[in-house]
Amino acid sequence: MNRLLLLNGPNMNLLGTREKDIYGAYSLEDLENELHQFSVKKGYTMDCFQSNHEGELIDQIHAASGKYVGIVFNPAAYTHTSIAIRDAIKAIQVPVIEVHMSNVYARETFRHTSMIAPVCEGQITGLGITGYRLAVLALIDLNRKGENDVNT
Ligand code: DQA
Repeated sequence: MNRLLLLNGPNMNLLGTREKDIYGAYSLEDLENELHQFSVKKGYTMDCFQSNHEGELIDQIHAASGKYVGIVFNPAAYTHTSIAIRDAIKAIQVPVIEVHMSNVYARETFRHTSMIAPVCEGQITGLGITGYRLAVLALIDLNRKGENDVNT
């Protein structure tokens, strides 16, 4: 099973038009296509999902069990508020990497707190689309390690 899930939270559908000085000119579609192609080159497939609704993101996280080897997740503003998303990640065995386009630590103090980070494998922030690519590489690496553990 070589499948990854890319999840993007609220307002990420407005990428490319939203605060371009912070988030750049890439549209969500550009981002998803690029990440999908990148994953395919590495021998993985990727499903992409974006929602402005907390419950829909939680449903995707629950459904990921047994279906994906990892989730690249930009929870957007829910990062800073959602105990429900944190609990959902904690409830599944699938590794999650938290990604942010912008450097949240260089912005308003309310963005310095992540409810999500403590239940993720890691957090990548401030590297734009490169951060998403690095998250894909990290999940592939974790998956390989997992396979090796099983074989040894
Ligand atoms: C974001 C950072 C969040 O603080 C913000 O609410 C977002 C996007 C990022 O990708 O930089 O919507 O997750």
